[in-house]
Amino acid sequence: MRTYLVTGGAGFIGSNYIHYMFKKYGDQIRIINVDKLTYAGNLENLAEVEGRDNYTFVRADICDKDAIAKIFAENDIDRVVHFAAESHVDRSIKNPEVFVQTNVLGTAVMLNCARAAWEKEDGSYPEGKKFLHVSTDEVYGSLPEGEGYFYETTPYSPHSPYSSSKAGSDMLVKAYMDTYHFPANITNCSNNYGPYQFPEKLIPLIINNALSGKKLPVYGDGKNVRDWLYVEDHAKAIDMVQEQGRLFETYNVGGHNEKQNIEIVQIIIDTLLEMLPDEDPRKAHISRDLITYVEDRKGHDRRYAIAPDKIKAEIGWEPETMFKDGIKKTIRWYFEHEDWMKNVTSGDYQKYYETMYNV
Ligand code: NAD
Ligand code: TYD
Repeated sequence: MRTYLVTGGAGFIGSNYIHYMFKKYGDQIRIINVDKLTYAGNLENLAEVEGRDNYTFVRADICDKDAIAKIFAENDIDRVVHFAAESHVDRSIKNPEVFVQTNVLGTAVMLNCARAAWEKEDGSYPEGKKFLHVSTDEVYGSLPEGEGYFYETTPYSPHSPYSSSKAGSDMLVKAYMDTYHFPANITNCSNNYGPYQFPEKLIPLIINNALSGKKLPVYGDGKNVRDWLYVEDHAKAIDMVQEQGRLFETYNVGGHNEKQNIEIVQIIIDTLLEMLPDEDPRKAHISRDLITYVEDRKGHDRRYAIAPDKIKAEIGWEPETMFKDGIKKTIRWYFEHEDWMKNVTSGDYQKYYETMYNV
């Protein structure tokens, strides 16, 4: 049975990936999820898989060499899928240091421990050992409006402390591949949306604020462009790259779904109004009047847009979820998980770990 070590599996994309993998492979794989449970890590995201015999949760910091080395020593890990990171640009502008710590140093620890566990005396690696580093399109910097795309060959030009720390982690992975022939891949994906996303990010924040009748903050002129991908399509891409991709390669992941932020906010308002029944009291206070333009983010990248040509040509991956369907699925999920949102916004979800694990 193949064993996966997933880092950051209690976060947004990591938890969606774990659900995707169990749906796809069932009892044929084992997953060990290592997560520090920062403010962004929520074990409620994984309540459905908690009871599985082939799933284990370990609470640890990826910067803790001893804890990570112990996991490798006690388990024959075949695949690492490395999500754990500080992920929010606004937080990185306020407090950059923790981004360098987790994203750069934590990745170095993961690489070092995997190499120590896997490398043979002659410098080769056993067949099937693979490390996938999950990264972002933000490392490529910012594109002008309506012109050009990010390719795997686009030079790195990060602007925020978040994107520069992710760029640093990508460079470390590249250095391990070049120096030690370390068996890895990097994926650089565009903005994700879907279930379990922490409501500090644009889409869940707007859904939550609109449902509560709060103002909808739009940074600057609202015309910054992001390229949105439904999270399950990202999970599928990661699995396909690890199974079918060429080792040592980088793959850009995105779905040619560029939207200005203001369009996203308007689509969410319109979709909420369409989906909520007339008798729902929340419907009365939802309108475009809630939109409030606020001070722009410092160093705000204008446009991100991925060219997914390589992953499509080599691996046959393409996004399956159209934005109009994905946003409805996402909104429906937030309707059906009001308690999840309440727990997250009140901070109560952090008590879940103590209750679940009796600590
Ligand atoms: P997230 O913030 O929702 O989750 C991050 C997870 O990592 C949390 O569970 C957190 O507890 C854990 N974590 C943080 N620091 C840790 C540490 N020191 N040790 C162990 N665990 C730690 O993030 P996300 O949106 O799910 O993103 C996951 C990965 O995907 C990140 O590497 C991010 O850069 C990348 N990515 C995200 C997006 C996006 O749109 N969200 C797009 C492309 C790439
Ligand atoms: P975000 O979800 O933080 O992702 P990223 O910055 O990694 O792309 O933000 C997406 C876009 O939405 C970005 O251009 C900033 C903007 N934004 C707002 O206009 N208002 C908000 O309240 C937030 C959180 C983001």
